[in-house]
This record gives sequence, C-alpha cells and structure tokens, in this order.
Amino acid sequence: MSHVLVTGGAGYIGSIAAFQLLEAGHDVTIFDDLSTGHLESIDSRARFVEASLLDISKLRGAMSGCDSVMHFGGKSLVGESVAKPELYMQINVEGSRNVLDAMKSEGVSRIVFSSSAATYGEPSAAPISEDYEALPTNPYGVTKLRVDELLSERATVDGFAATSLRYFNVAGALNTGSKWLGEFHNPETHLIPKVLQATVSNPLKVFGNDWPTPDGTCIRDYVHVVDLIEAHITALGQLVNPGHCIINLGSGSGYSVQEVISAAEKILGRSIPTEIDSRRAGDPAVLVASIEKAQKELNWSPTRSLESMIQDSHKAAR
Ligand SMILES: NC(=O)c1ccc[n+]([C@@H]2O[C@H](COP(=O)([O-])OP(=O)(O)OC[C@H]3O[C@@H](n4cnc5c(N)ncnc54)[C@H](O)[C@@H]3O)[C@@H](O)[C@H]2O)c1
Repeated sequence: MSHVLVTGGAGYIGSIAAFQLLEAGHDVTIFDDLSTGHLESIDSRARFVEASLLDISKLRGAMSGCDSVMHFGGKSLVGESVAKPELYMQINVEGSRNVLDAMKSEGVSRIVFSSSAATYGEPSAAPISEDYEALPTNPYGVTKLRVDELLSERATVDGFAATSLRYFNVAGALNTGSKWLGEFHNPETHLIPKVLQATVSNPLKVFGNDWPTPDGTCIRDYVHVVDLIEAHITALGQLVNPGHCIINLGSGSGYSVQEVISAAEKILGRSIPTEIDSRRAGDPAVLVASIEKAQKELNWSPTRSLESMIQDSHKAAR
C-alpha cells in the first residue's frame, strides 16, 4: 500500500482520485489551496494540508511520509490562461517544479501528472496518438506541455518514475455512498454540465454548426472520471523504474455536440435550449484520442458510456 500526496484533491478529478485511493486501502494526503476546490469534497479519512503549490516549505512538509504523488493541482481554464498567461506559468509550471523539488528533497520518486489534450493544439488528424507533434495553441496547453517536458528532464536527471496522462474531456461523477463528487466548477466551461445547466433564458451556445462533420457540430472524446481514475491507480502501481512516459486517456471514439445534446434530452426527458453561435478561434472540428497505448501499457479501456457520464453528472449537480 502507498501513501499518496494528491495535489488538487479538493477539486473535481482529484477528490474522486483521493476517494478511490482510500477505498483501495492507500493512505492519502490532500494538498490544495481551495482556489477552485471545495472543502466539502475532501474525504475526512485523508490528511489535509491547505496551502499553495507556490509554498515549497508547505509542500515539503506535506510530502513527508508519502511515497508517491498524483498531481492534479493547478489552473485549467483556457480562456483565463489567454487573459492571464503569467498566472498559468507561475501556478502550473513553477508550482509543478516545486512539487518535483519537494519530492527530491523528501526522497519521493513516483509521480502521475494530469496533462491534457490541449498540448496537441489543433491537430488535423484523428485519432491522435502520443507521438503526434505537440503544438499547443493557448497558454494553458503550453504550461501542460512544459510540465511534461520537465518530467522527462527530471526523470533523467533525478531518477523520477513519472507518467503524464493526457486527458481529453473528462465527465461524470462518483457517488461515495454519502454524497456525490462531481464537477462543481465556477465558471463551468465543460460541455456536459453546461448542457445540463441550459435554460430558455440561458441557452447552451453551440459554437458552429457548419463544421465538416456529419451533423455540422464539433466532435470530442469524453471519458468517465471513474474510468480515468482507474487508469491513474494502475499507472501509479506500475511506476517502478526511472523514466517518463506519456499516455492519452480518452474513450477512443468521439461524439458530436449535437449527439451529446440528444443523449441528454433523452435522459432528462426534455429539450435542451440551444443557440447557434459562430465558430471559436482555435477549435478543431474533431479531437479524438488514440487509446492504443493506454490499452497496451496500462491494460486499460474505459467501460462507462456517454449516457452514464450524463446521468451521473445530472445526479451530482448541485
Ligand atoms: N476536467 C477536465 O476535463 C480536464 C482535462 C484535461 C486535464 N485536466 C487537468 O486535470 C487536473 C484537475 O482538473 P479538475 O477539472 O479537477 O480541476 P479543478 O479546478 O476542479 O481542480 C484543481 C484543484 O487544484 C487546486 N489548486 C489550484 N491552484 C492551486 C495552487 N496554486 N495550489 C494548490 N492547489 C491549487 C484547486 O483548488 C482545485 O481543487 C488539472 O490539472 C487540469 O488541468 C482536466
């Protein structure tokens, strides 16, 4: 059994990771500044350190007794990263450098990092494999790529065993038995919660219905958060030897925005108010992961459907 430092463990994905790790018998320390996370999402069985990734001495203290790290903490809004690129460099890149420095000083060498499909930019191919050239088109994607590169360097120089998991669109929620852990982002930018929140007075904006796809709306790859965390726990268990590897996590197939809306309408039994807006700069028509590497290296394939992602997100909604 491990003692895992979960940075960002009060956030959407990190809180579900912490719960699943505890359920599997591991010890967990959560490190979070609650800037976008929620105190009520923190499992009472975990040790909690409320501090910023920019505070290296707090990170060192939190690391003591841990033997591994799952690093979810950071900023993840593309629009905000365009408005405040320095903030993203500071928290995502310098904060991650602090995590690695604290690991080194405390003798911790295993880390799983939340990377992102944003590192790939606007690929013209689909599905996208890990050897596709990373050309991020916004500061958020640049910071994720920089941390992937940093992990590669530090694996060689400091002997870290590291895996970057590049998520596509994460959705769904988890019922702990006493409460739902889900996406409680504010502002919310992800499609499935936005579909569920749409009202006549605040309709869902569909950015373009003239894309070169069968129904004209963009196609994206969605993965259930519980499937995603299962891949993390496997990846962590496999970290033995120094080195760094990058693995995509998605479903390997895509759904158009219209297909997501139709699936939600079926589940909710009502229509979803929508409004067609112009295309957003930087949006590719299709963004779908190749998950061959995850299947091969982690023996992992997602098992939860788009319908269960929508259903669980609906049940978790506050
Ligand atoms: N949600 C997705 O679809 C998605 C897709 C790709 C990658 N990711 C990555 O996964 C990770 C988790 O995403 P999420 O959706 O759970 O986001 P989230 O905002 O819900 O969680 C991030 C957590 O990090 C904490 N945090 C932020 N800045 C911090 C700092 N300076 N010090 C300490 N803690 C800090 C926040 O308080 C929050 O609890 C992020 O790194 C994100 O970039 C998410």
